[in-house]
Amino acid sequence: MNKAQHITVSISVLSTDFVQLGANLQRIHMSGADSVHLDIMDGRFVPNISFGWSIAADIVKASRIPCGAHLMIERPEDAFDAMLATGVNEVLFHVEATRFPFRALDLLKRPGIRRGVAVNPATPVASVIPLLESLDTVLLMSVEPGFGGQPFLPGTLTKVRELRSAADRAGLSIRIAVDGGVDMSNATALRDAGATELSAGSAFFRATDPSAFVRALRGE
Ligand code: DX5
Ligand code: ZN
Repeated sequence: MNKAQHITVSISVLSTDFVQLGANLQRIHMSGADSVHLDIMDGRFVPNISFGWSIAADIVKASRIPCGAHLMIERPEDAFDAMLATGVNEVLFHVEATRFPFRALDLLKRPGIRRGVAVNPATPVASVIPLLESLDTVLLMSVEPGFGGQPFLPGTLTKVRELRSAADRAGLSIRIAVDGGVDMSNATALRDAGATELSAGSAFFRATDPSAFVRALRGE
């Protein structure tokens, strides 16, 4: 159980109409969400392409809340400088996308920047245990990355518990984020399992009351 930890809510604009980006950002601001989750895809690591640095920089500039990048790209190290130049304050790369995660985390060590790894549903939690001391955040994917609007994979709950216990045993208070198919039906179970950040896209933009949605995800 992890109820003492502050739960944050991050909103992904991936599944929205990009022509309406300004209005969608406004909806995020009004909702009281903690941050914007930027899904960067290269069409290689995942079978989809989203947007790149220039649009990311525009979103960061227009955002009144912090923005974090979820890099779903091959060779993420090559993109760190361009990503950081957009003004994001967190960069997460996929542990499956690099052979040298320690080196990548080292490259991301910059003042004021949170760093971490994202983990595909089929990748065991054990693969990130050696990295825990070198990162701030582990993002557990609860769908196969690449698309918004997919159903939540319930096996994620076991992975959150496993990761939280491993971090507790190591005395580390890492952030555990969960991304994909997050909504009001699974948020309580995720918080109880030890998740500290919930990322949501389509459920947030479907919600009739966005601020009630954000509060519900936080358990308020
Ligand atoms: C999937 C992305 C997620 C996704 C979240 O590849 O990483 O951030 O857009 O959107 P929903 O909540 O629709 O699954
Ligand atoms: Zn994401």
